[in-house]
Amino acid sequence: MGNGLRNWLITGGCGFIGVSLIRQLLADAADLSIRVVDNLSGGSQRDLERVASVRKLDSGIPPMSAPGVELVAADIRDASTAMQAAAGADVIVHLAANTGVQPSLRDPVMDMECNVVGLVNYLEAARRNGVDSFVFASSSAPIGRAEPPVTEKTVCRPISPYGASKLAGEAYCSAYHGSYGLKTVALRFSNVYGPLSVRKGSVVALFIRQALAGEPWIINGDGTQTRDFIHIDDIVSALVAAAHSPHGGEVYQISTQVETSVASMAAMLSDILRREGGIETTTTFGPPLQADVMRSWADITKARQVLGWRPGRELREGLEETVRWFLEKYQP
Ligand SMILES: NC(=O)c1ccc[n+]([C@@H]2O[C@H](COP(=O)([O-])OP(=O)(O)OC[C@H]3O[C@@H](n4cnc5c(N)ncnc54)[C@H](O)[C@@H]3O)[C@@H](O)[C@H]2O)c1
Repeated sequence: MGNGLRNWLITGGCGFIGVSLIRQLLADAADLSIRVVDNLSGGSQRDLERVASVRKLDSGIPPMSAPGVELVAADIRDASTAMQAAAGADVIVHLAANTGVQPSLRDPVMDMECNVVGLVNYLEAARRNGVDSFVFASSSAPIGRAEPPVTEKTVCRPISPYGASKLAGEAYCSAYHGSYGLKTVALRFSNVYGPLSVRKGSVVALFIRQALAGEPWIINGDGTQTRDFIHIDDIVSALVAAAHSPHGGEVYQISTQVETSVASMAAMLSDILRREGGIETTTTFGPPLQADVMRSWADITKARQVLGWRPGRELREGLEETVRWFLEKYQP
């Protein structure tokens, strides 16, 4: 693990990316101290217990030091919990958020409170507690509708409240680096899929759960909209690289540079489900989603050059592994 990062505070650590990150951190160094702050609105303690034994902190939050995984069941909008939870942390990985465009359209104020106020609470807690490194999970949503490939220099024009709140988050990370020297890194993830995505509403996880339940797939629009699908292991390695990076105030696109239409991903997934599980799928088409981006893929030269990170998984291989994981481990 190196670089002295022993005490990891992970907000949203009961969710898909958090649980996957914790599994990898413990595989690399079993004696780390990991503290999760999660309000359990998305992930659950049971989800976290898939990868670690968990001590729930019910009365009082001491400074971090003890090895193992602790859970603080709290909301990131609570500033005083943030201040206590960050005491003793070497690194904060800020994953907790209102995730996704559609919930942000239903309640843009809640989206802003979680994704901007919640983030600033943890930046402030990092600054006041002398935390070394702060990694923020951003998204490709800040960019909005831009001709791909997008880079970190593409002008952002968000078309959803979610895109706006993530862009504001990036701005605050930059400001905390510029004003206080806090080593912040924002990672713009594209569309993440993989094992452990048990509750995700994103297209790969949703389609696999629907196929297992014998339900038809509904593609929003005509399926020609494209995404840059990235395997969870590549996201985890980017988070670890960002936590150890000496460069603060930076934003990186984290994706695969491969543009795939939703219809061709669905065809690939359908074929894999038939081969791996004898499962037949049916597809229908519905109206396009509001504020949906038509084309999305990103250039990752900066992450390759500065973080020394590169994605390792091809889509077909990653989907096969994901389907096998759901067939073996998933219980509705
Ligand atoms: N999964 C993707 O495809 C993807 C793509 C781009 C960006 N991201 C970003 O990565 C981060 C993690 O995503 P994920 O896929 O693991 O999401 P997830 O929904 O699986 O996990 C988020 C976790 O945060 C917790 N949470 C939500 N609001 C909270 C609050 N107010 N206070 C405390 N905890 C709260 C939830 O209970 C959940 O366990 C998010 O910030 C998301 O916006 C994800």
